[in-house]
Amino acid sequence: MKIAVYPGSFDPMTNGHLDIIKRAAKTFDKVYVAILNNSAKTPAFPLSQRIDWLKRATKELDNVEIDSFSGLLVNYANEKNANIIIKGLRAVSDFEYEFQMALTNRALSPNIETMFLMTNGKYSYLSSSIVKEIARFGGSLNGLVPDFMIEEVTNEITKNQ
Ligand code: PNS
Repeated sequence: MKIAVYPGSFDPMTNGHLDIIKRAAKTFDKVYVAILNNSAKTPAFPLSQRIDWLKRATKELDNVEIDSFSGLLVNYANEKNANIIIKGLRAVSDFEYEFQMALTNRALSPNIETMFLMTNGKYSYLSSSIVKEIARFGGSLNGLVPDFMIEEVTNEITKNQ
């Protein structure tokens, strides 16, 4: 069994994330989408909401499971018997940070391999921060997140303004 973990904050999930999840689901037998539950970070959206969005967006993908984790990613991966970490790469600017994380994770747990999937070109500019910025200023989220999320993301972001 090729078991992979796709970790992230998913604050919120974007169509770029979903594209990586779908492609990972075709390549690996099982994919855990693991949302970091870190008390030191203050996310814009509660964990339960981020889990719900990911579950709804991936409900047709039988080998994808939505989960959360705290602590070290490699410990979570080992608990799940996963020896692959999936990361999406958008631009060269992602590289340095991802390189550092991949080498750190390998130093911590040499049995786990990090694999990078190149983003779909049409999402190369997309990030959770961009989605929040657009929602904050009333722009359209069409095509950036799944349709069912648009109103919920916009309402949640604007309610605290
Ligand atoms: O979507 P993000 O915020 O870029 O995801 C970052 C994430 C969750 C992959 C990263 O912060 C992480 O793995 N955190 C868990 C703590 C850990 O294992 N740190 C050591 C590797 S640098």
